[in-house]
Amino acid sequence: MARRPILVFDSGIGGLTVLREIRRVLPDRRLIYVADDAGFPYGDWDEDRLRARLISLISGLLADYTPEITVIACNTAATLALADLRAAYPGACFVGTVPAIKPAAEQSRSGLISVLATPATVRRDYTRRLIATFAAHCDLNLVGSRHLARLAEAHVQGTPYDSNTVRTEIAPCFIEKASRRTDIVVLACTHYPFLTKVFEQRAPWPVTWLDPAPAIARHVLTVSKAGRDLSETEPAPVDDTADIAIVTSGRATPTLHALLRQFDLALAASTTN
Ligand code: DGL
Repeated sequence: MARRPILVFDSGIGGLTVLREIRRVLPDRRLIYVADDAGFPYGDWDEDRLRARLISLISGLLADYTPEITVIACNTAATLALADLRAAYPGACFVGTVPAIKPAAEQSRSGLISVLATPATVRRDYTRRLIATFAAHCDLNLVGSRHLARLAEAHVQGTPYDSNTVRTEIAPCFIEKASRRTDIVVLACTHYPFLTKVFEQRAPWPVTWLDPAPAIARHVLTVSKAGRDLSETEPAPVDDTADIAIVTSGRATPTLHALLRQFDLALAASTTN
């Protein structure tokens, strides 16, 4: 029997930045991409309502696709509900995307680090705990952006964006203290790596824009290998069924279709909504 697929979930197109890296390390695995575009943007949701929505959506996806691994490729969702999802579905395997505060603290030379995320991710206890655990020795500056996730959606789908908005949204990431200045900005929303070039052009000085997607993909690879070692004596055949994308709105514009095609994803006819 072919191995079960890997499901990658986000509120929109952001998780594609994670899917791209998973495909690099696991080129033979079937991938299912789910964009909860009917719920986008998650950054604006009340926590209890979003938690309930995630638990119910993921329940349907687990039943329909029985993924081997479900990657919550959304910081806003994972920092809120990863523990709840694991508790609700103990038989399922989840990998989350959470702000890359630990690697940033290890790599920063100046000790001045900014975390650029949705306002919701900035507010989460989970994010505060990561800082206390891994970066207590650094100056951590949390920057909640109200507009960048929408702007990334527009940018990737070919709509012009306002450069001044980008400049204003990233400006609080840049801090100078005595002779030190910010040297790492953690991209703590999976939409933002689509804007890295735009950020670089508008940054007051060069910094490392830390995209955790390659590290998440390596973690998925490790989890996937561990699963195989436990349950299989021989490698399972490759599942050559097409990789698909599901959008919960049930509607995809021609530009979204084209984008999904660029990622070698066929839009599924059915939706989860
Ligand atoms: N891609 C999501 C994240 O990583 C957030 C975008 C949204 O606000 O829905 O946080």
